[in-house]
Amino acid sequence: MQIVKSIEEVRSIVRGWRKEGLRVGLVPTMGYLHEGHKSLIVKAVSENDRVVVSDFVNPTQFGANEDLESYPRDIERDAAICEAAGASLVFHPEPEEMYFPDNCTFVDMDGLTKGLCGKSRPTHFRGVCTVVSKLFHIVMPDRAYFGQKDAQQLAVIRRMVRDLNFEITIVGCPIVREKDGLAMSSRNTYLNAEERKAALILHKSLQAAEALMQTGERDVAVIKAAIVERMKTEPLARIDYVEIVDAETLEDAAAIERPVLAATAVYIGKTRLIDNFIFEV
Ligand code: PAJ
Repeated sequence: MQIVKSIEEVRSIVRGWRKEGLRVGLVPTMGYLHEGHKSLIVKAVSENDRVVVSDFVNPTQFGANEDLESYPRDIERDAAICEAAGASLVFHPEPEEMYFPDNCTFVDMDGLTKGLCGKSRPTHFRGVCTVVSKLFHIVMPDRAYFGQKDAQQLAVIRRMVRDLNFEITIVGCPIVREKDGLAMSSRNTYLNAEERKAALILHKSLQAAEALMQTGERDVAVIKAAIVERMKTEPLARIDYVEIVDAETLEDAAAIERPVLAATAVYIGKTRLIDNFIFEV
């Protein structure tokens, strides 16, 4: 497995693979890899001849007061995980390699990016769409792998690929959780022992909502209220949002008739965590 830092080098290696007729998968990440990321890489390895993992903390998707500087980084550990999972190449560029100092071009999206995480992170998806477009142009993969953990991101990327005619198949992968149910996230490392326990409230509240839906509750307001009430039992939790939306359009679901996405973002101390589930009627 190779670790490369330059766009030109990635292009030249992938060009060689293409000449041989090999299928290429891409797993975009911001590094500090865990089992969730690994599951994407393993899936990509099973469906492609070569897999590129990008490992890049993308500055353009962080807001001014967010955790760009403190975001955890460990490229050596990441490389070992990628190699063990069967990746062929890790692309680990410096910010200067990815962005010209006078970069003024962005990929932006209306609609899907305005609600959920977009409300408290208004420039986040512009940064995600921009960097993912750049990675798609650099690697030109046949398939790219994204986690359901970031449900809105997955919906946004699917829409971008459709609207901008990228010839890439987007593969969504299920959420990988810790044994106790907490969705794995690089940001979980910010939690102290007390907060780590409190963080379980996201999954527990959503599980309660799923149980309600399974027993036939179809009133969105009732289900949302049940989630909020459960969250409020955890003193360390501060809700950013609790939403139930159409799983594809991300528009508010009035009733539960089509697949819906129940999603939440919650501050545990200073750490903002997200979780979700999809319910199909
Ligand atoms: P990052 O948060 O590092 O996540 C990289 C990929 O791993 C995303 O597709 C995310 O949904 C997936 N992932 C994270 N935790 C997961 C879990 N517990 N189970 C399953 N999949 C999980 O998402 C980003 O980076 C960035 O926004 C990126 C797309 C790389 C653009 O910079």
